[in-house]
Amino acid sequence: MIIKSIKLTNFRNHTSYFLNCKDRTTIIHGENGCGKTSVLEAIYILTRGKSFRATDQEILKRGKEFYRAEMELENGSKTIATYDGKIKSFTVLDKKTRRLPKKQKYPVILFIPSDLNLISHSPGSRRKYFDQIFSQFNESYNDALLKYDKALKQRNELLKKENLSPSDLFSWNVLLAKYGSILSNLRAEYIKEINSNFTKKYQSIMGNKDKVDIIYNTEILEKSEAKYLTILEQNYQKDIFIGHTTFGIHRDDYLFRLNQKLANGSASRGETRSIILALKFIEADLIYQKTNTKPLVLLDDVFSELDEQRRKHLVNNFKENQIIITSVENI
Ligand SMILES: Nc1ncnc2c1ncn2[C@@H]1O[C@H](COP(=O)(O)OP(=O)(O)O)[C@@H](O)[C@H]1O
Ligand SMILES: [Mg+2]
Repeated sequence: MIIKSIKLTNFRNHTSYFLNCKDRTTIIHGENGCGKTSVLEAIYILTRGKSFRATDQEILKRGKEFYRAEMELENGSKTIATYDGKIKSFTVLDKKTRRLPKKQKYPVILFIPSDLNLISHSPGSRRKYFDQIFSQFNESYNDALLKYDKALKQRNELLKKENLSPSDLFSWNVLLAKYGSILSNLRAEYIKEINSNFTKKYQSIMGNKDKVDIIYNTEILEKSEAKYLTILEQNYQKDIFIGHTTFGIHRDDYLFRLNQKLANGSASRGETRSIILALKFIEADLIYQKTNTKPLVLLDDVFSELDEQRRKHLVNNFKENQIIITSVENI
């Protein structure tokens, strides 16, 4: 897939905007607040189905009644996303749907400035980060996650009710155990795959012999559904007392290590940047291995955060991908 152009109407600050894309590298250059990230946001919606940073209501240009984002591909086909203040819909080949059809989704490597703080951010932001990646590898990961989150919300609501009996929680426990163990297994598998190349990529950026890896930090050590269910049931009193579900994959974390020491607190700024860069390269490799597609690469303002050598690595690594870059500086 090669994007030929993007057209936006009432999308954030853009009343009417048009971008011609190059086959290889397109640079969106402009000062802060001119709407660069918004263009990447539109592309992300058109390829992944929803924004990486906001709701449609926040995206809709203030005072306007609808937004529209249109993407034309090199082969002439179009994807259109519209939002009328209540409902978002996608139009592909004259067919209108509420969600972007799976067949129209396209893998994306998104690199935004906050990714550079991934190592020191909250466990929740790391979970969100990896969920986004794993969903691109595997649509059923995403389906399981949506079902898990829904069941978790229901169980947590019930836990706040008076006169609750253990049997009231049963059906939610079953769903959490089912999807929780699926997700836990997939997380462990994908982190193992990332780790198998992580050090090599990192060393190629740094030119040294340091080792990096990610520890999948989870309480779900025995990954059987039955065991998961038993623990949820045993936690009944404790969960009522605390007021939410205390066991499960929603408490997982991913810990980055440099030479077997936690990178958070020990890695320098340069090392941290290289760790994230290596992670992005591996994401692209794994997506290619699993989907046989070279992902689209969206780089938001990260060029200015990287030194000359890391910029070179970035460009070299993605030389066969279509890249769209935003930048305040002239690059
Ligand atoms: N719903 C909206 N309606 C109108 N303007 C908006 C809306 N949402 C954001 N903006 C404005 O759009 C501008 C573009 O934001 P952004 O794409 O993040 O810019 P950049 O990445 O170029 O710094 C910001 O000045 C912001 O205040
Ligand atoms: Mg921006």
